[in-house]
Amino acid sequence: MSLCDFPGAYEDKLNRRLVVPAYPRSVPPAALAARLVSIANRRRLDKIWLWSFSADAPAFENEGFQVEAVTAEAPEQKPTVSMAYFLDAARAVSQHTDLEDKILTTVCRQSPAAGPKPLPAEVAIRLLSTGDAGAISRLLQKMFSTYPAPVSDPGYIQKLMRKGCLFAGAFSKHCLVSVVGAYPESRWQRCEITDCATLPAYRGMSLINRLAGLLEPAVREKGPYTLYSLARAGSCGMNRVLFNLGYRFQGRLINNCHIGGRFEDMNLWVRH
Ligand SMILES: CC(C)(COP(=O)(O)OP(=O)(O)OC[C@H]1O[C@@H](n2cnc3c(N)ncnc32)[C@H](O)[C@@H]1OP(=O)(O)O)[C@@H](O)C(=O)NCCC(=O)NCCS
Repeated sequence: MSLCDFPGAYEDKLNRRLVVPAYPRSVPPAALAARLVSIANRRRLDKIWLWSFSADAPAFENEGFQVEAVTAEAPEQKPTVSMAYFLDAARAVSQHTDLEDKILTTVCRQSPAAGPKPLPAEVAIRLLSTGDAGAISRLLQKMFSTYPAPVSDPGYIQKLMRKGCLFAGAFSKHCLVSVVGAYPESRWQRCEITDCATLPAYRGMSLINRLAGLLEPAVREKGPYTLYSLARAGSCGMNRVLFNLGYRFQGRLINNCHIGGRFEDMNLWVRH
């Protein structure tokens, strides 16, 4: 078996991990696990991120994989268990979990905000198109010293849009000041809400809340998608935004991607 036998799997060099969104169910999990570990070893990666079907999770656990989060919908038909296998012992350990737990408790302690704050007259929001790719790229580069995807290339963002990914943005004086992306995955009817950033001068206006609200009907038009998002576990703002939007915390992916200058733990939030 090679990586091509795992639908949608890829070597993610930027984040030194093997990403495996699904696998052939005709092969026993123990054999799949051995194959994945061998591929990751050969490519000198330090984490395997596998989406497992819930029935197979115990068998993967026997092979050294661990459950990090669960999306918990239609558990039998879709890969809903986010599992990790660490090939590098240091990558398996986070120094930040105590603080991240406190942030999560704080974020969830206060009831969700009743709705977004009023939009100032000079700010306009709309869905974005390929012509906005340069502005999205510049905004994300300004906000993050490193990013888990090659967003510094506007061509990459255009390619995402052509594949069906959606973006919404807020503009002030024709400048993009806030952005959100939605990446629908038709095979599993799930959609990641991602690429969230607001320039500091425009925070406090619930812009991500509004932009996510603009994207959601466009995603739902495609079908009954489960929405999920991975928030930096150390970001009070992003976790609060998801809590306000009615997402549920479903687990934490340790040292999952390189963002903002280091490997970060990512909280998985889900909304059905
Ligand atoms: C996270 C981010 C995108 C939120 O943008 P936004 O929605 O426009 O920001 P807002 O200021 O309106 O904040 C949204 C909510 O988070 C809360 N929040 C923001 N920063 C906070 C902080 N440091 N501590 C506690 N709460 C915070 C706000 O109070 C608000 O919640 P409320 O409506 O219940 O009061 C923005 O802070 C940002 O760009 N951060 C840097 C990039 C980043 O980390 N992106 C996420 C990557 S996973």
